[in-house]
Amino acid sequence: MKATLRYLAGIAGPSGFGSNSTAEQVTQDFSSFLPSNLTALITGATSGIGAETARVLAKRGVRVVIGARDLKKAREVREKIQKESPGAEVILLEIDLSSFASVQRFCSEFLALDLPLNILMNVLSELGILRRQNRNDICYKLLRTFFVNENAGRENDRYGTEVSYNGTRAYAQSKLATILHVKEVARQLKERNAKVTINAVHPGIVKTGIIRAHKGLITDSLFFIASKLLKSISQGASTTCYVALSGKTEGVSGKYFTDCNESNCSSLANEESEARKLWNDTYALLHKRLRQATN
Ligand SMILES: NC(=O)c1ccc[n+]([C@@H]2O[C@H](COP(=O)([O-])OP(=O)(O)OC[C@H]3O[C@@H](n4cnc5c(N)ncnc54)[C@H](OP(=O)(O)O)[C@@H]3O)[C@@H](O)[C@H]2O)c1
Repeated sequence: MKATLRYLAGIAGPSGFGSNSTAEQVTQDFSSFLPSNLTALITGATSGIGAETARVLAKRGVRVVIGARDLKKAREVREKIQKESPGAEVILLEIDLSSFASVQRFCSEFLALDLPLNILMNVLSELGILRRQNRNDICYKLLRTFFVNENAGRENDRYGTEVSYNGTRAYAQSKLATILHVKEVARQLKERNAKVTINAVHPGIVKTGIIRAHKGLITDSLFFIASKLLKSISQGASTTCYVALSGKTEGVSGKYFTDCNESNCSSLANEESEARKLWNDTYALLHKRLRQATN
C-alpha cells in the first residue's frame, strides 16, 4: 500500500529519485565524473525502454553498442541519437536472441571489435545489468544470460522439458528466471571476488511496443483507463540508466531495482536453491546446444 502510494505520488526514495524521474534527470550530473571510454552493450534497443536507454547513455558520453535483429530499425535509432548528440559513438551488430547461432555470431563479432565492455544491458530479459565486465568474459556470460531467457520463456517443468505454452505464464516465468539468474551470477561473482556487479531492474508499467503487441478492445480500454498511471518511456528508462551509471550503485550486486531504488522481490525470486537449479539446468542446456552446434 505504502509502495503504491509512493509510486502514484512519485515520491523520491533514498536514491533521491522516484517513479516520476526520467532517464535524463537521473543521469544529468553524471557526464562530468564518468570515466572516458565507457562502453555499454544493449540488446532490445530498437524501441521502447532500450532505445531510450541507448539515447540517454550516448548523450552522457557512453559508447553504445546496439545488438538488434532488425538493423534497419537500429540504424534509425542511431540516426536519431546522433542527430541529438553528434559526437555519439553508436555501433550496430545483428543479433536475434531467439537463435543460438545468431547469439554466437554476435559474440564473435563483438569480441572482434576489441572494445572494453563496462556495461551490459539485456533489456529483453527484464533488464539484467552487468557492470564493469571484463571483456574476455563476455561471450561466456552473454550466452548464458541470453540463453536463460530463451529457456525460461516457455512453460516447462521447472525450466526443463517444454510441455505446453501460455504467453502470460511464460512471460512471468522468464522474469522470475532473470531475477534468479541475476542473484546466482551475483553470488558466483562475489565468491570469485570479481569486480563485476549484476542487478535486475523493473522499469514500471510503460506504454511501449510490448503493450502494442497485445492489442485488442479489452487491452486498449484497460490501458486507456490506466494511462494516467503508466510511465512515459523516459520514466521507464530511468532505472536502467540509474543502475548502469550511478556512483551509488557501484559495488551493489544481486539486487532488484524499481523506480531507481533498491526494492524487494517475491519470496520465490529469493530462493537460493531455485536459483542454483536454474543455473545448473541452463548450463547443461547451454553445453548441449554448444556441442550440437560444433557437431
Ligand atoms: N513496457 C512495460 O510496461 C514493461 C514492464 C515490465 C517489464 N518490461 C520489460 O522491459 C523490457 C523492454 O520492454 P519494452 O517495453 O521496451 O518493449 P519493446 O518496446 O517491445 O522493445 C522490445 C525490444 O526487444 C527487441 N527484441 C524482441 N525480440 C528480439 C529478438 N528475438 N532478438 C533481438 N531483439 C529482440 C525488439 O526488437 P524489434 O524492434 O526487432 O522488435 C525491441 O527492440 C522487456 O524485457 C520487458 O519485458 C516492460
